[in-house]
Amino acid sequence: MLESQLESLSRDAQARIAAALTPDALEAVRVEVLGRKGALAEISRGMGKLPPDEKKVIGKLLNEAKTQLEAALEARQNSFAAAALSARLDAEWLDVTLPAPGVRPGSLHPLTQIQQELEDLFTSMGAAVLDGPEVETEYNNFDALNIPADHPARDMQDTFWLEDNYVLRTHTSPVQVRGMAKLGPELLEHGTPLLMIAPGRVFRNEEVDPSHEHTFYQLEGMMVDKNVSIAHMLFFMKTLLTHIFKREVTVRLRPGYFPFVEPGFELDIQCLICGGPGCPVCKQSGWVELLPCGLVNPNVLRMGGLDPEVYGGFAFGLGLTRLVMMRYAIDDIRHLQGGDLRFLRQF
Ligand code: DAH
Repeated sequence: MLESQLESLSRDAQARIAAALTPDALEAVRVEVLGRKGALAEISRGMGKLPPDEKKVIGKLLNEAKTQLEAALEARQNSFAAAALSARLDAEWLDVTLPAPGVRPGSLHPLTQIQQELEDLFTSMGAAVLDGPEVETEYNNFDALNIPADHPARDMQDTFWLEDNYVLRTHTSPVQVRGMAKLGPELLEHGTPLLMIAPGRVFRNEEVDPSHEHTFYQLEGMMVDKNVSIAHMLFFMKTLLTHIFKREVTVRLRPGYFPFVEPGFELDIQCLICGGPGCPVCKQSGWVELLPCGLVNPNVLRMGGLDPEVYGGFAFGLGLTRLVMMRYAIDDIRHLQGGDLRFLRQF
């Protein structure tokens, strides 16, 4: 009698455990069946009146039923915990490999992009890419470039002077002298032309306006060898411009004075912003000075340790900043160093 009661109680309890949908419902089943005043406890109390033989059998069955029900309860509890955990994981799921919201990948500054393109072009032609210091000696910035202290040409570049005859370099041309001294003998004595570029930042004490900044970028170029002519120079200039603008640009060559070249030229390109009629960038002239150049003055070759009776060369000083402005039709030079992300994100 107790035996069948136990059996049906156990079956019933198993079914209720399986059917419990919440931890609370499960707890209710536990209290009702396994609790101190629960159904199993009641049967256990009823066992007291049984003869010892039966008591032993029922006691064993009771223990088995208890163990089974406890296991079932625990399993069900665990499944609630697992479900809760996976629900939480679903809710809090996070892909740590996704880019953070609101943070965009950066991009290279347009000046850096154009500099790298030109470095690629010139290295493909065998040029060395040289670096010079931004804090330069007065000697390298001026004297070695054939601009002695008392020469009026010093006035062409309003300079930031530092202590002990150092200046913030006003142009990348001092790298010509450094380059000749460093690479000249080694290359030229083995019959290899010296071809180099030197991109970098330069400084002038300028009145800032849409086309003038105190800080801007140039790319110096130089070739030295035996029998270098203006034809070589023009070839490099044209290759450079076609490469950058990906089209023919209208150019004009006029005489220009720079103490470190003789003859010297100004290579202008037709203003790509207004296309000719005039705008603030071209100072209403329709032309933009972009590429001053010339044949290296013998004095400069000498300062670089080379014999002007044997060697000659050309040099040019490309205005990188101006080039970027032309290429992207930027009408105010101040955007370039302004650090405004709305501007920079366009590139
Ligand atoms: N260094 C000159 C400047 O900044 C530009 C220049 C002119 C460089 C003629 C050259 C050159 O190499 O041949 O005004």
